Amino acid sequence: MAKKMIQEFYRMKKQREKITWLTAYDYPTAQFEEEAGVEMILVGDSMGMCVYGYESTVPVTMDQCIVHCEAVRRGAPNTFVMGDMPFMSYQRSDEDAVVNAGRFLKEANMDAIKLEGGKRVISRIKAILDAGIVVCGHIGLTPQSSGQLGGHKAQGRTVDSAQLVIEDAVAIENAGAQLLLLEAVPPEVAEFITKKLSIPVLSIGAGLECDGQLLIVSDMIGQFQAFTPKFVKKYANVAEVITGAMKEYVKDVKAKSFPADEHCYHMLKGEDEKFKEMIKKYR
Ligand code: KIV
Repeated sequence: MAKKMIQEFYRMKKQREKITWLTAYDYPTAQFEEEAGVEMILVGDSMGMCVYGYESTVPVTMDQCIVHCEAVRRGAPNTFVMGDMPFMSYQRSDEDAVVNAGRFLKEANMDAIKLEGGKRVISRIKAILDAGIVVCGHIGLTPQSSGQLGGHKAQGRTVDSAQLVIEDAVAIENAGAQLLLLEAVPPEVAEFITKKLSIPVLSIGAGLECDGQLLIVSDMIGQFQAFTPKFVKKYANVAEVITGAMKEYVKDVKAKSFPADEHCYHMLKGEDEKFKEMIKKYR
């Protein structure tokens, strides 16, 4: 299937065709997603929790992101893949933002980058766009600044808070960003924003009316165990499948029923007799 680019996502919004989006952090998962027809992949800084076992996304570095983006790109050469700008890769200055956004394209062949924040990151968004890079905004619950938000809490649940989310969304579109992600926002607020903006508006925990949906792959396949946000639907329980397989392996090894004959490399024909002769000298 041909790789869908940004123009295709605009067409899908216009024709009310939903966009499918998942995170991936490694080569095999990216292969599965491309095979499944997922249209966009995010190499999210959620790798901090899902891959590295950190308590948050904050410790994730640019170098870690690049390595995972490279692996995902190799697994999904024909899918629109987006790099996620980690904490402190753009917060300091527009220059940092451009240099680090550029690394995603130059070193890992990404199609776009995502960064968190609304009005306060508008100059960063503009600087990255000026470098010719496709930008996705991310507002609502923004995990990198969850400390300021009072934890991992849904946003826009009061009229005042909803107004702030709407103002951020409008500012991001006006800055020229080509995509917007809303995280953990009430569906009525998300629906209003989706209809108001002409850029595709994607949801992770923002209801059905957005132009497409994102889930963290480790949540939706039941791999990440520490917690499950309310907005996740678990489509599989791979933790159970994997642990079950490992328990079987432990049992087989202890019982000496693995490896079986079919798992062994026997000596070539005629070599076995010569081998018996040869080892006599070691006795
Ligand atoms: O890193 C990530 O996967 C994200 C999602 C939580 C939206 O940014």
